[in-house]
Amino acid sequence: MNLIVIGSGGREHAVIKKLLENKDVEKIYALPGNGGIAADAECVPISATDIDGIVKFAVERKIDYAVVTPDDPLVLGCVDALNEAGIPCFGPEKKAAIIEGSKVFSKNLMKKYGIPTAKYEVFDDAGKALEYLKTAPIPTVVKADGLALGKGALVCMTREEALDAVKTIMVDRKFGASGNEIVIEEFLTGPEVSVLSFTDGKVVKPMVSSMDHKRAGDGDTGLNTGGMGTIAPNPYYTEEVAKECMEKIFLPTIDAMNKEGHTFKGCLYFGLMLTPDGAKVIEYNCRFGDPETQVVLPLLKSDLLTIMQACTNGTLSETEVEFSQGSACCVVMASKGYPVSYEKGYEITIPDDVAPNVYVAGAALKDGKLVTSGGRVLGVTATADNLAEAIEKAYGLTEKIHFDNQYMRSDIGRRALAKTPQSA
Ligand code: AMP
Ligand code: GLY
Repeated sequence: MNLIVIGSGGREHAVIKKLLENKDVEKIYALPGNGGIAADAECVPISATDIDGIVKFAVERKIDYAVVTPDDPLVLGCVDALNEAGIPCFGPEKKAAIIEGSKVFSKNLMKKYGIPTAKYEVFDDAGKALEYLKTAPIPTVVKADGLALGKGALVCMTREEALDAVKTIMVDRKFGASGNEIVIEEFLTGPEVSVLSFTDGKVVKPMVSSMDHKRAGDGDTGLNTGGMGTIAPNPYYTEEVAKECMEKIFLPTIDAMNKEGHTFKGCLYFGLMLTPDGAKVIEYNCRFGDPETQVVLPLLKSDLLTIMQACTNGTLSETEVEFSQGSACCVVMASKGYPVSYEKGYEITIPDDVAPNVYVAGAALKDGKLVTSGGRVLGVTATADNLAEAIEKAYGLTEKIHFDNQYMRSDIGRRALAKTPQSA
């Protein structure tokens, strides 16, 4: 089989490596991929948002199956366009991707179907939002309705910050048209858990839970980033919590999407907060998370392509989705200065024995050499019987990878370890 995978991050690299484990896969094209992905797939310089270009390429090359992973092409209708051209895909159609593409849609869906989430108000007028904030409970969270590169949620600890957030999104238009509407919601507290799940629109099969580390600095300090590392499973996500989430969140969400005529097929990501009042949805993503995928897929024992095709064909109930009992840790090696400003173009050396553990996010090939080209350069993942070992192994592997100007957090998984008595 010949496959295309749309996207260019560490997540896509993890998906590609896993798909290659299936012996029926002859070739994978990454559109556009990156310099590191080029070791595992043929990179084609077609942007992930060039839907016409993607369809044209897929038809010309007689692609058997397409995997669409990033949010933008999904929200733009990439899966619909490929399907119309007769190419089966993994990923939700545009109508279902709206669950991530519009916070107003997802919040209203949760309210209508009683799915636990933070209380909220919606505004399409800055003046009314500012008026509301004069007396609203503080802290609060102000969110742009549309996609904003994962940066559209502003947690505001003071009233002044909240007023500024409305101005940033609705007046200064920092996120463009994504800020036409905003959601102002109740500030929740508790540990966060990411649960990625496979669904064919009928059943939902959650993957192993994970924990992201979004802040740039150790001890969860500094600016928000695209994710500085992940661990799986998340020790806060006990069997009891998993049961509660299945009953109150996962199944009701699939059901609600069906009832609204937005049947979701693909990977539905539940961003959860385990509050004192139970698990609540912080966000839905219509795709695999990054860098969660870099710890979740290495623990998947079943065949990824078979599962993806079952999601497409509606046969997930009879398809095995099994994860190993072990743990995984992914440490992101970034460029110093990320997420603000950083230099690029430094040569990266990865020993051959470490390469299978590396998922490249921001690197390019220059004169045949791999050089840094992004803020997050690569993720290094190790799996082990327990979390303590996985963390130690992952950090051990980072020492074997070299590039100038590198930065990583030194405490990925530390909080999770403290919560895991048997491995602490
Ligand atoms: P989002 O883009 O909606 O996932 O939000 C990004 C981050 O902001 C989340 O991972 C949380 O850490 C934080 N956040 C979002 N919504 C809330 C909320 N209602 N209460 C507290 N923190 C939140
Ligand atoms: N790690 C969060 C996300 O992929 O949106």
